[in-house]
Amino acid sequence: MSHELNNTSISNALDAADFEVAAAPCASPESTEIAPLAGPLRGSIHVPGDKSISHRAVLFSAMAEGTSRVTGVLDSEDVRSSIRCVRALGAEVSLEKQPDGSLAGGITGWGAQGPKQPDEPLDCGNSGTTARLLMGILAPWDIRVTLSGDSSLSTRPMRRITAPLMKMGVRFEPEGREHLPLTEIGSANLRAIEYDAPMASAQLKTAVLLAGTYAQGTTVLNEPARSRNHTELMLPQYGVPTTASDLMSSVEGPRVLQASEVSVPGDPSSAAFLVCAAVLHPGSAIQIENVSLNTARIGFTRTLERMGAQVEVARSGSSGKEPSGMIEACYTPHLKGCEIPAQHIASVIDEIPILALVAAHAQGVTVFRQVGELRVKETDRLAAVVAGLEQLGVDAWEDGDDLFIEGQPDLRIPEGMEFDSKGDHRLAMTWAVAGMTAGVPVKVKGFESVNISYPGFLSDIERLTQ
Ligand code: S3P
Repeated sequence: MSHELNNTSISNALDAADFEVAAAPCASPESTEIAPLAGPLRGSIHVPGDKSISHRAVLFSAMAEGTSRVTGVLDSEDVRSSIRCVRALGAEVSLEKQPDGSLAGGITGWGAQGPKQPDEPLDCGNSGTTARLLMGILAPWDIRVTLSGDSSLSTRPMRRITAPLMKMGVRFEPEGREHLPLTEIGSANLRAIEYDAPMASAQLKTAVLLAGTYAQGTTVLNEPARSRNHTELMLPQYGVPTTASDLMSSVEGPRVLQASEVSVPGDPSSAAFLVCAAVLHPGSAIQIENVSLNTARIGFTRTLERMGAQVEVARSGSSGKEPSGMIEACYTPHLKGCEIPAQHIASVIDEIPILALVAAHAQGVTVFRQVGELRVKETDRLAAVVAGLEQLGVDAWEDGDDLFIEGQPDLRIPEGMEFDSKGDHRLAMTWAVAGMTAGVPVKVKGFESVNISYPGFLSDIERLTQ
């Protein structure tokens, strides 16, 4: 069974048909056998483009006046959802598949004219970033747009986005509904607001800031802990100044984004799976090149260091205002548990499943504080991590919103275990790494969900074992 995106053989321009919705990843009942690593992971590699930055490059270019040039864009199901939606809204997207698997080319946005009324509901697939950022993008336009998603996205909370946008003057139907599908009716007279976000969420922050670019005055977003800041870093590249301190971001409107050039660095969240596999597998030593080293994203390297793992980060340049460079990781035989405090959780939020697997191999208890947000990711990742670790024979439990893992340095995994990814890409890769690094074959149900963020995951692992 092949898990590649359905058109990875296409080497030239991608057209509309290439962005049709793929089969819902969560629907698959099939299991994939994952082979143990053929040897230590060694050598250097580039991981695909950062998912968060790729979404923003596509969406901001679609909003802008003129033709933007983008390179290094991640070709994955989630980013294709963003591309499909902005095309339906009138942006011209001419991206070509590059030899390294990334997408590059031009995107001509709707600019001051605004998006067109789409003929059909916009299907955001599995992508929370697409749905939530689009809500902010559609806020200033007098059109009616229905946003829908797959069965996973249709259970994820949306009131966190609709509540501040309604304060700005946007309407949603049905009113007060928490889940997609939702119909948004924008307002040409958006009010600038100061909003205290109830949780640290870059998707919420971005939706409000993007709406704020069209509102008269200063829109301010305060957050309880620092979330990723790609929007604040990238908007000035599109001619929209932002101000940002640790817990506050703001934008001054009204402004029309102007076309820009964006080069997307490698995704640290994808790199984390290779890094953790190298830390766990004897003899491994790898380098991941040209990866984003944004501090709001590489909390996992600090967590691994605190566990005693041999991990190093070396900055060598930047892509726009995003710092980039290399992450090195070596096998580390003695790991120790540690505590990850609430204010650092946002910087590891997508890496908690794979960090939990590393914690399962460490001496002592690891505690992730205040990780309730994991319950509303692509699946309930908190419950799924506890269940998967219990399957491995590791004591893991939730206490309120905290996650506890009591590691076992001599953990052995029996052959032939079957894990359920629940259609969640990060869980699929976590359980694959559990088997690979333990030297036993395992089965992962719904493994093709890796196409959401890292379609070449298995081939990159294979390359590092040669
Ligand atoms: C993202 C923000 C995070 C993260 C998600 C991508 C983004 O979600 O988990 O994978 O690109 O802004 P929240 O904003 O819900 O925390």
